[in-house]
Parts: sequence; structure tokens; C-alpha cells
Amino acid sequence: MTETAGTGALPVEGVPAARVLDEIRALRAGDRPTHGGRLFAYVYDPGVAGLDELAQAAYAESAHVNGLDPTAFPSLLAMENALVGAAARLLGGGPGTSAPDVVGSVTSGGTESLILAVKAARDARPDLAEPRIVVPVSGHAAFAKAAHYLRVALDPVPVDPVTLRPAVADVAAAIRPETVLVVASAPSYAHGVIDPVAEIAAVAAAAGVRCHVDACFGGWTLPWLRRLGAPVPPFDFAVPGVTSISVDLHKYAYAPKGVSVLLHRDPGLRATQFFAYADWPGYTMVNPVIASTRSGGPIAAAYATLRHLGEDGYLRLAAVTRDAVAGLADAVRAVDGLRLLAEPESTVVCFTADDPALDLFVLVDELTARGWHTQPQLAYAGLPASVHLTVTAAVAPRVAEFGPALAEAAAAARAAGPVVLPPELLALAGSLTPEALTPDLIAGLAAGLGLGGGAAPDRMAAVNTLLQAAPVRLRERLLVEFVGLLQRPTW
Ligand SMILES: Cc1ncc(COP(=O)(O)O)c(C=O)c1O
Repeated sequence: MTETAGTGALPVEGVPAARVLDEIRALRAGDRPTHGGRLFAYVYDPGVAGLDELAQAAYAESAHVNGLDPTAFPSLLAMENALVGAAARLLGGGPGTSAPDVVGSVTSGGTESLILAVKAARDARPDLAEPRIVVPVSGHAAFAKAAHYLRVALDPVPVDPVTLRPAVADVAAAIRPETVLVVASAPSYAHGVIDPVAEIAAVAAAAGVRCHVDACFGGWTLPWLRRLGAPVPPFDFAVPGVTSISVDLHKYAYAPKGVSVLLHRDPGLRATQFFAYADWPGYTMVNPVIASTRSGGPIAAAYATLRHLGEDGYLRLAAVTRDAVAGLADAVRAVDGLRLLAEPESTVVCFTADDPALDLFVLVDELTARGWHTQPQLAYAGLPASVHLTVTAAVAPRVAEFGPALAEAAAAARAAGPVVLPPELLALAGSLTPEALTPDLIAGLAAGLGLGGGAAPDRMAAVNTLLQAAPVRLRERLLVEFVGLLQRPTW
């Protein structure tokens, strides 16, 4: 073995536990705040005292348990089955419903659930050489990832620029003999609007094709919002033709990260999701999900979270979140030049700017400078650039502060004026092809934008403006290159 001088993660001599934790806390100090209701993406915070401690304790109990073999660790199987049962019940399945035979699996997240929904649909049609899926462009990017990983062709369906929903006739027209899955979102992540699930499922069923409802984001809020009286359209197993649904527990079930549920209307539909292999000399392997070894931690933490909050807890949190959404939407309406892209119908507030003097990307930076972390979305296919707010219960106590902060940030953005990139840079972004990007060009671009120092710059408006000026394929390549610059080993 070669002797090393030790690295940051692997010192020559071990470091005492307390110091290691201090070091991690010091690193964490540079992160966006996961609690406190000022971060409108990435995290889901119910603001319930003691819940983190419970979830962490439950996580620790099962962290070393391995989901690879449910017969070795029946505790995990029991908790997984209970989570699937709870999700199925909430989404219109289970005994006494029109979908009594619902089954499911716990996955590591929404992306894995969607990849597996596509895999199950693809593998149910081994007769097709070139299987395809139909996905509205508002569908989550994970469907494109699934199509890419699984070599399935993606047939995107445009959305109406006003309703932000696909036309059912366009969905129907996109279905071909090779289509194995049609997708609807409840709601879409970007804009928070619910697709016409019943109509989409009907055209899919008429063509004999599976229909997946991506309720990763909304599956754990829409049912409570409906119980509270919101006009939530049918989107779950109560809708004939819906064959599978995904719902992420690490989103609005407020469980720590690493848990989603993929449900199928019956075991026959799920069968092709599994992978079994006995043609090797090792242990007999059967994996319901992509991972083989799986920590029991996330499952136990989710189980504890659901049991502790209960239906009444989720109902209360949904009411609080609904009111926060209304308050944030009012704050947006009160600022001249800003416009809600869609009237909120779930837990997303999404707005755009109608006034060219108010640059949304600068506004996002100004909000960040004031401690409010929002998510910019680039203009795409006739849809304007927008700002996305994922609203969780912890936002509620902050709503009154958000309005003035937004107004102040908008005034500052107007005063600063829109981002002006050098015309030659803009021209380059508009005309370059991904193939023409050389390492030198990338390094030059990154340096010009302040990227590459091991962390993203404080102000991202110039980066977003450049990305927006680039065609989609170039955007993707630039993103890969820029993140590649961040992911470099430290020694
Ligand atoms: C509607 C929807 N689907 C899928 C996903 C992907 O989930 P994950 O990030 O857990 O992989 C998300 C994430 O925000 C989502 O909102």
C-alpha cells in the first residue's frame, strides 16, 4: 500500500468524534437554511417541534438494516408495507375502493419512482423494439432521464402558455402503437398546476396504454387540501385508467430525504418493475427497486414521521400551507411588474415579470441577498422565465415579512437594471453548438461568470442570463461542464 499524507476525509490519524461533528457543523454554516421558512425549494419543513429529533432517532435505529433481503430484516418489510398502505389509501386505493389490489414499493426518491414506472411499462411490452412514452413538457425532467437511461423514446406534448396544461387532443395525437406509457402531473413541479388527469387517463386507456400520475410533489398535499374544501379535480386511483402513481414522502409527508412510494393499480402491473437474477454463483437476487443494498434509515424515519403526525397533523399542516400560499400570492400581486404565472391550485407560487426593466434573475439575487432563497426557471418553449416557490408549512410565520422583502428586492432589481452580458458572449451562446465547446472556451466562460472556484457565486443572474440565451442542448452541455468544475476532489 502506498503511504499517503492523509486527506481531508481520510486523515492519517483519526479525529475525535466531537471535533468531526464541529467540522461538519462549520461546513453546514455555508449552506442555505433548511429550516425557518426562507428557502422555497429543495427542503420541506413542517416547522413541527421535536419532529427532526424523532426522525433522526428512528433513522439511527434502522440505519444499518439492509433492505436487500426482506426475509432477513422483517422490520423493514413491515414498515415499507405500512408506508405503501398509507400512500395507497390516501390516493384512492385499498380495501373498499375501486382499486382494492393496489401494491407498491418504497424507492429512494421521485426520480427513482419515475424511472421504475417507465421500466415497468417498457418491460411489459417486450414485443416493441422501440418503445415510447408521452410526456407533457411540464412533466418532471426525471421522465427524460428515465427515457435516456432506459432507451425509450420521449414524445413531448406542448402545454398551453396560459393554462400551462397539455391539450388532451394533443396527448391523444401523440400516442402511437409503440407508446408504453402516458404521463400526467398532479401537479407539475414548475408551475404547480394539475393536468387534466381524468381525460388523459381516458385517452391512454382507450389506446390500451398505461397512465402514470406523477404526484411526487402533490400526492401528499392534494388529498388534504381537498378535505379542507379546495376544488381538487380527480387525479388518483379513483380515476379509471390511472395505472400507477408516485408520491414522495420526503416532500410533503415531511420525512427526511430518501423516500418515495411507487404504486401500481394491481400486482400484474408491478411485476415488470422487479429485477431478479439467479444466473450467477452468488446469492439469489431480487430487487423491487433500482438499489440493491438499501439503508433502512429513510424508511424507518418516514414511518416514524407519518405515525407521529397522523392524519390530523397533515390536515393541520395543509391548512397552514394553504394560507401561506394565499399570502405569498397576494405579496406577488402587490408588486408592480410581477404577475402570477398560474393561480395557485396546490402548494406552488410561480410568478413572472411583465416589465423588461425588472429582471427576474436580478430579483432572485436581490432576494437571496436579503435571506430569501427562491428558484429561478429559464424561459422555455414560449413560456417566460419565472420564479418558483415551493411553499411548506414552515413558511407560514414568514409570510408577513415576505411581502415587504419582495417589494424591496423588486425596487433594488429595477435600480440595478437588467443583466447586460457582452454582446459577443450572447452571440456566442446563441450560435455555439455543444460539439464546438472546447475546454478552453468552457474555462473562459466559467471564469467570466465567476464559476469554478469550488462554489457557486453569490449572484447567479449573469449565469442564468447566459444559459437562457443558449439553445436547450447547449444549456445542458454548459450545465454539465459548470457542475463538472465544482465536482473536483480535494486532497
Ligand atoms: C412532480 C415531481 N416529480 C418528480 C420529482 C423528482 O423527485 P426527486 O427529486 O425526489 O428525485 C419532483 C421533484 O421535485 C417533482 O416535483
